[in-house]
Amino acid sequence: MSGFSAPHCGSLRATDEGREVELYGWVARRRDHGGVAFIDLRDRWGTVQVVVRPAALVETEVRNEYVIHIKGKVARRPPGSENPKMTTGEVEVVAEDLEIISEAKTPPFEIEDDVKADEALRLKYRYLDIRRPKMTHNLELRHRVVQAIHRYMDAHEFMEVETPMLLKGTPEGSRDFIVPSRLHPGEFFALPQSPQQLKQLLMVAGIGRYYQIARCLRDEDLRADRVVEITQLDVEMSFCTEEDVFTLIEGLWAKVWKDVLGIEIPTPFPRIDMQESLLKYGTDKPDLRYGLEIADVSDALRSTGATVLRGALDAGGVVRCFAVPGGKDMSRRELDELAVLARGAGAKGLAWIPGPLDRHISEGEMSAIKSAARAGADDLVFIVADRRRKAETVLGLLRREMARRRKLVRHGEWNFLWVYPMYLFEEDDLGNLTYGHHPFTSPWPEDMPLLETRPYDVRARAYDCVLNGVEISGGSIRIHERDLQEKVFGILGMDPERIRSQFGHLLDAFEYGVPPHGGIAAGIDRLMMAIIETENIRDVVAFPKTQSHQDLMLGAPGPVDPKQLEELHIRVVPPKKPAS
Ligand code: AMO
Repeated sequence: MSGFSAPHCGSLRATDEGREVELYGWVARRRDHGGVAFIDLRDRWGTVQVVVRPAALVETEVRNEYVIHIKGKVARRPPGSENPKMTTGEVEVVAEDLEIISEAKTPPFEIEDDVKADEALRLKYRYLDIRRPKMTHNLELRHRVVQAIHRYMDAHEFMEVETPMLLKGTPEGSRDFIVPSRLHPGEFFALPQSPQQLKQLLMVAGIGRYYQIARCLRDEDLRADRVVEITQLDVEMSFCTEEDVFTLIEGLWAKVWKDVLGIEIPTPFPRIDMQESLLKYGTDKPDLRYGLEIADVSDALRSTGATVLRGALDAGGVVRCFAVPGGKDMSRRELDELAVLARGAGAKGLAWIPGPLDRHISEGEMSAIKSAARAGADDLVFIVADRRRKAETVLGLLRREMARRRKLVRHGEWNFLWVYPMYLFEEDDLGNLTYGHHPFTSPWPEDMPLLETRPYDVRARAYDCVLNGVEISGGSIRIHERDLQEKVFGILGMDPERIRSQFGHLLDAFEYGVPPHGGIAAGIDRLMMAIIETENIRDVVAFPKTQSHQDLMLGAPGPVDPKQLEELHIRVVPPKKPAS
């Protein structure tokens, strides 16, 4: 029997009793007991106990992570020795023959779910890390999700079309990774930040319904929920409205949850507009698995004697607050810690009641705050006074932190929602106007007159689907008129020459019969994070980069042969040493 047709270690059950089997796998553990050796044999499907009697039959050097081949018979475990924690726990395989296929050095860390090794070591030996059942399971689950997506998209007549990796820059708000051209000295391709323009061109081409499991590369600073090589389910369709996209995607997630997790999720998903989301939750991706709703109390405090609050209001800012149930029990030390956290997020300070601010606040103001925050007698109310955007960020952060510290998150709940509509433009870090989603997003028709006069107030036909506080997908109905697209590029500060050189192909295409169209892209990595409830995106990626964009296993990036550089007409200029 070959290993390919042999049963899996993890698949044996009580119904296999008496079966003659051959097994191939890795030694997860070996114990010797009164003349008998017990080996836990592991493969992708699980672990089964192999009994070798007498122990001397096991060549003494059989150690952890050796690859072995067993011939034997499946038996029920003696009563009382079953292991309910193992799916194979009712049986064991009594070995008749054992062959060592490959020896193994002692691994640099224990191959077990409860791994203690630090992540850098695990990434360096990722092939060992993936042997851990939890990691194998994460990859398996990811595979199931992607398979369910393919089935659903095909059933809805979406055609998978591959788009190139060597592209011209397409803006998604990040830096491009660029690739030098050997045949065109001094010229570069950009790797796709997304297939955005190509999928729109496929609509012009008449494909009508496109999807792709696409790799997108974005050179951005990494956070716990970011990867440089994103996998997206990328979707575009013609002659559609927002409602069509919502229905399609709600149906998709319902199907994935049913097929993969066996869970029915109710549709349609609730919707919240961007403004309300920022006000109530301090974020555009609210997690509704806990309360802690934020309230605006600016109007009640316009003439307050509390100068910290009044100052912010006089400068055109806001005062906002939320109540922490039972929060009066927080120590001064904890409150000071939270104030440090708030300052770290850019707040001028953090106030709370009851607290030092009380004596500056009138009775009327106090009761207005408590009633807006719906604070009970044992609750503590956090107050932030600042510019609107800053207050939102700080309160959003604090809300998440309090939910975490006080264990308020209802785990096991699947809270999907749409944030819609969103805004067309936003401020970048330097205070300049930039696009909220990407520059191809259609403005809200009624807000069109505001495009040039009050651009920040223009809403967009854009939507994000959020699951448990994670933005799992985002998209929009696109601009399909050349004039309007040119106008939006112009508002974004691009001159006609740049528009021509960067987007001429799209604008030209818009002159050859273009269907109205829209779409969405779902981040598979983020989706998987939400499904397995991890805060670390690397838990759902087989070979991820570190926060500093390195592959510790491959040792990449690394220098290349000078000859290669020469062929590419590239000279490396070493970075300037920072002044000491
Ligand atoms: P967007 O940039 O919002 O839209 O990306 C879509 C989804 O991809 C995921 N995502 C990421 N996941 C991990 N790490 C990252 N660095 C990262 N960046 C994005 C998120 C996000 O919701 N072309 C448009 C889509 C469209 O308009 O159809 C786009 O790429 O889950």
